[in-house]
Amino acid sequence: MIFSDDFVFGGATAAYQIEGAATEGGRGKSIWDVFSHTEGRVVNGDTGDVAIDHYHRFKDDVALMAELGFKAYRYSVSWPRIQPDGTGKALEAGLDFYSRLTDELLGAGIDPWITLYHWDLPQALQDAGGWPNRDTAQRFADFSAIVHEHLGDRVKHWITLNEPFVSSFVGYAAGRHAPGLRDPQAALKSVHHLLLGHGLALQALRAQNVADIGITLNLYSVQAASDSAVDTDAARRVDGFQNRLFLDPVLKGRYPQDMLHDTAEFGWLPAVQEGDLELISAPIDLLGVNYYTKYLITGDPEHPDLVGERTGQLDSPYPGAAHAREVRHGKPLTDIGWEIDPDGLHDVLTRLKREYPAVPLVITENGAAFDDELSEDGAVHDQRRVDYVREHLAACARAIEDGVPLKGYFLWSVFDNFEWAEGYAKRFGAVHVDYQTQVRTPKDSALWYSRTMRSRSLDQ
Ligand code: BGC
Ligand code: BGC
Repeated sequence: MIFSDDFVFGGATAAYQIEGAATEGGRGKSIWDVFSHTEGRVVNGDTGDVAIDHYHRFKDDVALMAELGFKAYRYSVSWPRIQPDGTGKALEAGLDFYSRLTDELLGAGIDPWITLYHWDLPQALQDAGGWPNRDTAQRFADFSAIVHEHLGDRVKHWITLNEPFVSSFVGYAAGRHAPGLRDPQAALKSVHHLLLGHGLALQALRAQNVADIGITLNLYSVQAASDSAVDTDAARRVDGFQNRLFLDPVLKGRYPQDMLHDTAEFGWLPAVQEGDLELISAPIDLLGVNYYTKYLITGDPEHPDLVGERTGQLDSPYPGAAHAREVRHGKPLTDIGWEIDPDGLHDVLTRLKREYPAVPLVITENGAAFDDELSEDGAVHDQRRVDYVREHLAACARAIEDGVPLKGYFLWSVFDNFEWAEGYAKRFGAVHVDYQTQVRTPKDSALWYSRTMRSRSLDQ
């Protein structure tokens, strides 16, 4: 299988997961600083205070990526590094950091892709209500305009939001992510205000002549565990929350009727004001797809194959859908407990082609967590990650053959990093990081991916 010359191969990271330097340059606190410093929120009490110290080591990190043959890199801008309180004048030190990082990438022949929001809302904006507060959407658009004004001359690819599903439902309904609330109405209002923020940022960047801009959604292949009415209805709801609640407003200009009906009891509908959906559905140049796993769903709480540890995660984020549960479908698991199912990626991509207006697609994240260890020979033999990435790239190649306009693939992640509520306990990197010494060691998967990026072929 060969990928065409214009297919983009890259790697992705996010600011809070790698930068560290939490108080440098006047940086303010984000909801993740506060959350990770709250006892009991993150495994082992880990925080992003130091992370992989990328803020100080970015030159070496870029050099390593160049050596490995990366030609594209997706990174995010820390909002509180630019505006400590989420509003007002931008900090020179913050803008300067991203400017130097961007120049370093360009100098190394790596195309920069920026994500404007990867979950680190300034705490001051959370104190003012956070995403359930409509004003946050405008603050985000203002922030986006500042960043684009400074980097738009050099950065050509822009993503507004990363995974608004996670920001809203995991942060405001399940409470497993910052800000750690369990309030269905707040979560649903957040969905709308995040999407509105996307629409307003899009408008602001269009005014600055941005050419390539989109949004990244975490999409899942969702199937019913049986064709019983109870299971198919549970699967419909999960598909609604995970996929359609975000895809439909962005690509079709409306929320799905069944979801409006199911969630009306939470009283969030007045948040949707006249004109909002026009902003939200303004044309985008690319849709970013993050894919990790596929869900097999049952509505039967007594189902014998219920996924223990995922059930709590799955049912709590879905307001009013308490009887939608994930069951195992007999595939191998990664070490974060997610089932490995590359066919699900093919399902997601072909479904987009079938059911939505055409838009260029990019896999902005795909990858796996494994409990990697350094071997005596000094290497990390993560064959399971090699297999995971190879199989998912093969699914991409099949989707392209089936006519899906897929333009690129970004591996999550380049480096081991702060895995949110899992702290440093879960490793997603192609490059191993020793958190004591900050030594970077490319794993076998990094070397394999390097050969793949260079040969554009999976046959090696
Ligand atoms: C997890 C997040 C993760 C996301 C990946 C969620 O269910 O809670 O930690 O980042 O899935 O899409
Ligand atoms: C997020 C990443 C996260 C990854 C693995 C995605 O949901 O965008 O920040 O590390 O999944 O959970």
